[in-house]
Amino acid sequence: MMHTTADFEKFYYLFPQSVVLISVARNLMPAAWHTPISAKPPLYGALISPKRYTYELLRKEKGFAVNFVMHENAPLVAKLGSTSGRDIDKLTHFKIATYPAEKVTAPILSTSYAAYECEKCHLHEYGDHFLLVGRVLLIHFDQHVLHERELVDVNKVNPILYFGTDRYLTTDPDSLSIFKKN
Ligand SMILES: Cc1cc2nc3c(=O)[nH]c(=O)nc-3n(C[C@H](O)[C@H](O)[C@H](O)COP(=O)(O)O)c2cc1C
Repeated sequence: MMHTTADFEKFYYLFPQSVVLISVARNLMPAAWHTPISAKPPLYGALISPKRYTYELLRKEKGFAVNFVMHENAPLVAKLGSTSGRDIDKLTHFKIATYPAEKVTAPILSTSYAAYECEKCHLHEYGDHFLLVGRVLLIHFDQHVLHERELVDVNKVNPILYFGTDRYLTTDPDSLSIFKKN
């Protein structure tokens, strides 16, 4: 029998979620609340608390990048998610290898397997977060991890997944099931 409650604070039953690194100006922060919004036009979104330094930067900057990283990066992701660019320069402090995005002012993590360069379109308040919506202008990808066009190979990518409260894991390629459409 399932319990019910109207006395809740968080909606953590959605986990696991993949974690991306949102980069803007010289800063990087992990975000588990992120989603594609539209294919045509290509829109990508993330929810950013106004408490984040990233939020301050996003107010000023015209663009940002979304970095997709592997589970091996979990220690770095945890550090980036427990420090603020307001207090330290994370790139220097954690000796993070990056290269500049081409169309926006944002660092691309050298160890990411894909990254989207986005032009900022909207930053709207919904409750205690702001929905950041960006138009994808350019995609960086490691062609060695592809299964087919724009689809990563489950044997080559161990995406970082977040299970809530500091717990990280990844996918198990042995669990792959393929159900063809009729
Ligand atoms: C795995 C993980 C996922 C997170 N997801 C989000 C998120 O989706 N939105 C958000 O506002 N903060 C999220 N955070 C919190 C920020 O990443 C964290 O507060 C970070 O230190 C902010 O850095 P900044 O102040 O340099 O922007 C997450 C943290 C972690 C560790």
